[in-house]
Amino acid sequence: MARLLRIDSSSRLDGSRTRALADYFQTAWLAKYPDTEVIARDVVETEIPHISQTAIASSYTPPNQRSPEMTTALALSDTLINELMTSETLVFSAPMYNFSVPSALKAWIDQIVQINRTFTFDGTTYEGLVTAKRAFVICAYGAAGYVGDGPFSSLNFLSPYMESLLGFLGVAQVQCFHLEGTALDGETITANVKQVQQDIDGAISQIL
Ligand SMILES: Cc1cc2nc3c(=O)[nH]c(=O)nc-3n(C[C@H](O)[C@H](O)[C@H](O)COP(=O)(O)O)c2cc1C
Repeated sequence: MARLLRIDSSSRLDGSRTRALADYFQTAWLAKYPDTEVIARDVVETEIPHISQTAIASSYTPPNQRSPEMTTALALSDTLINELMTSETLVFSAPMYNFSVPSALKAWIDQIVQINRTFTFDGTTYEGLVTAKRAFVICAYGAAGYVGDGPFSSLNFLSPYMESLLGFLGVAQVQCFHLEGTALDGETITANVKQVQQDIDGAISQIL
């Protein structure tokens, strides 16, 4: 059964626009692919610790040479990488926090980007090892103007970062959805949410 890994990262457990859109995505996905197994990884509800010194040392030590302490330090990383490596589709909900990803999501990223597990480096080139066919990133921004030629596009370290990171890891296809202006008036927000919902429907309908 194909797996969908869903990763939520808004600190707002209630009233979050990105979480609501991820719900919308999940519902639309399951309507088309009812046999999908959804793995929900909420990096706020279950906080991901920052990568530790022992875990870093362990990741550069061959498994058969690791101390029990080193193995324990990589246990969470192993679990998260296993969720990632067994999923065909990834969906992230990711609000812009200070022009980038929330630190909760960055903590997850630092746990899953592991040499010889999710990428290789031969001294010259990197190669991604993640086999997921596609990733979707639902981004939200309080202001408007971060996307395309918008006036704040040079400050957008959220969607270009997620696209670069997922491409680096080997994900074949990455698509971002952008909900801009969540701090604006209700009418604008309603229209923008509707547009993103249509974008999600369009993206899912195009998958063969
Ligand atoms: C800590 C924090 C930092 C934020 N930084 C930015 C920012 O740099 N630019 C911006 O446009 N909005 C910023 N916002 C607004 C959020 O991107 C916006 O409220 C978004 O809708 C949050 O996602 P959510 O509705 O899923 O919680 C920030 C919000 C918080 C809580």
